[in-house]
Amino acid sequence: MRVEEKLLYANSRPGTCGVDLEDVTNFKNTTGLPARENIDLPEVSEPDVIRHFVRLSQMNYSIDSNFYPLGSCTMKHNPRLNEKIARLPGFAQIHPLQPTSTCQGALELIYDLQEWLKDLTGLPGVTLAPAAGAHGELTGMMMIKKAHEEKGNPRKVVLVPDSAHGTNPATAATCGYTTVTIPSANGLVNMAEFEKAIKTHGEDIAAFMLTNPNTCGLFEPNVIKISKRLREIGAYFYCDGANFNAIVGKVKPGDLGVDVMQLNLHKTFSTPHGGGGPGCGPLVVSEKLMAYLPVPKVVQNNNEYALVTTDPASIGRIKAFHGHFGMMVRALSYMKSHGINGLQKVAEDAVLNANYVLTALRGPYRAPYNDEHTPCMHECLLNDREQKDNGISTMDIAKGLLDRGFHPMTVYFPLVTQGAMLIEPTETENKTTLDKFITAMLDIAKQAKANPADLHKAPVTTPRKRLDEVQAAKFPVLTWQDEQTKHPPQKQKESA
Ligand SMILES: Cc1ncc(COP(=O)(O)O)c(C=O)c1O
Repeated sequence: MRVEEKLLYANSRPGTCGVDLEDVTNFKNTTGLPARENIDLPEVSEPDVIRHFVRLSQMNYSIDSNFYPLGSCTMKHNPRLNEKIARLPGFAQIHPLQPTSTCQGALELIYDLQEWLKDLTGLPGVTLAPAAGAHGELTGMMMIKKAHEEKGNPRKVVLVPDSAHGTNPATAATCGYTTVTIPSANGLVNMAEFEKAIKTHGEDIAAFMLTNPNTCGLFEPNVIKISKRLREIGAYFYCDGANFNAIVGKVKPGDLGVDVMQLNLHKTFSTPHGGGGPGCGPLVVSEKLMAYLPVPKVVQNNNEYALVTTDPASIGRIKAFHGHFGMMVRALSYMKSHGINGLQKVAEDAVLNANYVLTALRGPYRAPYNDEHTPCMHECLLNDREQKDNGISTMDIAKGLLDRGFHPMTVYFPLVTQGAMLIEPTETENKTTLDKFITAMLDIAKQAKANPADLHKAPVTTPRKRLDEVQAAKFPVLTWQDEQTKHPPQKQKESA
């Protein structure tokens, strides 16, 4: 049983010291900050501090403790080999201001990774500078903008299907474009609507941003038709390649007519994500856009690696130094340890796992876009339609998962289907784990029919029960308050 974890202040006993410090009575505080004894810190022993924080950490759900159906967008298993390689002193202790003659190995690694990405995507230009997928999108759209401006033809509109990742329209808007939404049909681009938008906006269209595979877990079958049509009107084809893990080693986006695409290393090449830590969202581009790539560019001249730091055609710098080198080490380590055959297997297993879950759950749950003839890619989309008549919603199902020991899947996204539940098992999960998750989901479907009232109460086994999420979002309480007094914590006063 889990006991409520009190604040450290509640365990504070005057005079208790956590560490043995030298006598600091004669220490003169020259920092201008308040003296330690005046800032009301809790006074607790070292074991108490350690146990408090370890207990708190154990309340966290993590990829290292259980299955995460949210999938690669948030967190997937990162092989420890990559972590070990990234911690090698030659990589971990290098400094970005070192002269290039002293870091040839690091530049070679960057160059090698660039070559791998060019090869895997079939696109000839690359930058590793962007710090995340969304930052890669921004870099790509800035390049598109500059390309149109240089042609003396600044355009105003970016087309975005409603099945795109939310960062796509946000990026287009950040670059000053007006976004025009293309409605989907059965989770895919509605080609009639696409044509209609082209007719309306014609040569005002700067680009089309397509997430492929999209957020419904579907691969766009008209992708080549779309790229041809965009070429005819002089617009660029931006592909959000975050979901490349579904097709890596199988499909080269360059062959589909893609002009620019970001790759989320955390989704496909196993670098850590979550917590907003340093990430890497490389961008690959077609011949047409290569000149605009950001600086610095790592180039190879006669077996020596150098950095090109100025280039008048480039959009300039978008990140300090070369980007997040530690992520590049991990990604190349992942690629080299898998090899091209291993990467193909990654895509196969990611897709197989998602279809295994889809097949087991379709029926008890509605799969709006997948019948038995339409498999999904690396993630499967369900909704709460089968549960709605019993008054059960996606939120109840998600909370029911918490009581069965699982983190929920992505809920209420994508917006194209009501009550969406998007499940991405990722390639590293085995059948036993997937079966446990499926059993939990089937159990919830049964409870939704037999006892919906109890499911409304879920979760009942977690440290916090059902929260009022609207209140929490609108009126967040950001400082702890005592339940009874509604005051912030007070350290216990020394008894007389
Ligand atoms: C399809 C898609 N596009 C864009 C992003 C945004 O990427 P990031 O979180 O690295 O900025 C994600 C999330 O990983 C994604 O899944």
